[in-house]
Amino acid sequence: MDITEYSHCLISNYATPPVAFDRGEGARIWDVEGNEYLDFSSGIAVTCLGHSHPKWVSAVQKQAAKLVHCTNLFAIPEQARLAERLTRKAGAGRMLFCNSGAEANEALIKLARLYGCNKAGGKEGKIIKIVSAEGDFHGRTYGAMSATSGSKIRSGFAPLAPGFAFAKFNELASFEGLLDEDTAAVLIEPIQGEGGVRETTDDVLRGIRQLCDERGILLMLDEVQCGMARTGRFFSYESAGITPDAIALAKGLGGGFPIGAIWVRESHADLFKPGSHGTTFGGSPLACAAAHAVLDVIEEEKLMEKVAVRGASFKIELETVAAKRPDLVKEVRGRGYLLAMSMKVPCGEIVTALRMRGLIAVPAGGDSVRILPPLNANEGEIAEALEIIDKTLSTFTALTKP
Ligand SMILES: Cc1ncc(COP(=O)(O)O)c(C=O)c1O
Repeated sequence: MDITEYSHCLISNYATPPVAFDRGEGARIWDVEGNEYLDFSSGIAVTCLGHSHPKWVSAVQKQAAKLVHCTNLFAIPEQARLAERLTRKAGAGRMLFCNSGAEANEALIKLARLYGCNKAGGKEGKIIKIVSAEGDFHGRTYGAMSATSGSKIRSGFAPLAPGFAFAKFNELASFEGLLDEDTAAVLIEPIQGEGGVRETTDDVLRGIRQLCDERGILLMLDEVQCGMARTGRFFSYESAGITPDAIALAKGLGGGFPIGAIWVRESHADLFKPGSHGTTFGGSPLACAAAHAVLDVIEEEKLMEKVAVRGASFKIELETVAAKRPDLVKEVRGRGYLLAMSMKVPCGEIVTALRMRGLIAVPAGGDSVRILPPLNANEGEIAEALEIIDKTLSTFTALTKP
């Protein structure tokens, strides 16, 4: 198919894409014309084991031949086992599965409503407040979009769901000012992914945890992009030494197969009663098999430890490369394999120039080039990416003014 003819049959929701990919293997991907690229986007933090990891492929094939789907009206033992594995990482609590990041956040928003309603003595209909951070991205469904501050996401869809407020990113005093008696929950990304890889500091995270504790407010963390070992810890918030009340997970959880999940601390897990929520596909045997394979490989190949070490040196080397072009690069941000260069020139042009030299990265936050290698990207692949970035920056002249 000619990709310039794209809009004939597809709603033009996405800009006409520049390339169509045909196959992938590990950190590499090939387009339909046979050109090879190093994929340091991982489908925006999804293909965390790289493309077609043999263990993942084998687990998915085996499960597909055995049982793909079963309604949640019946027991899905692989779902319970997956929940057990994930609660071992998050802490004492319980899980509910869905299909995507936005859906996971929708479930958290419903959890907050149930919690707030309980807090208000069961008075349904009362506006219950959820405080997010400016610049956060929580998804495109109605609730998740309402919890997202950016006008680019919200524009055209007013009126949005009521009860959402936005604190200044990484400013504890701003959160404190918004938490009142109607507030049921804080919902934030510990590291903003779409927002340009901006980290909430550990001190602010701890401060928000304390405020929530003092005021009986749920702390709900959106780990959809920054979780699943991407920062060198299973959950990014672990660096702050806190435990949230609820977590949203998706993206890397299925390694490319759609699955999302929420974890809810044991003390609040019973807010959902039979029938409070539901999903046809969420946590299907096939999705769970994919997620088990992801966890198996992360554990067997010690990917968390590797990302911590390799990510730290990748960032230092990226800073060295970036320092050669202070006219182009403002700063390098991020942790582990969730990195970004914030640019003084249009980031889309840099992303295109990198792709022309064989490196796939993705724009973020309006000014940043986001770099998300698969968790098993090795030193050689990182060196190759750095060389492409170096060459691209050293020869770059902006086409348009920033
Ligand atoms: C932090 C965060 N939350 C939620 C979402 C929405 O996830 P999905 O696109 O799977 O609905 C994303 C997607 O980029 C995300 O980065």
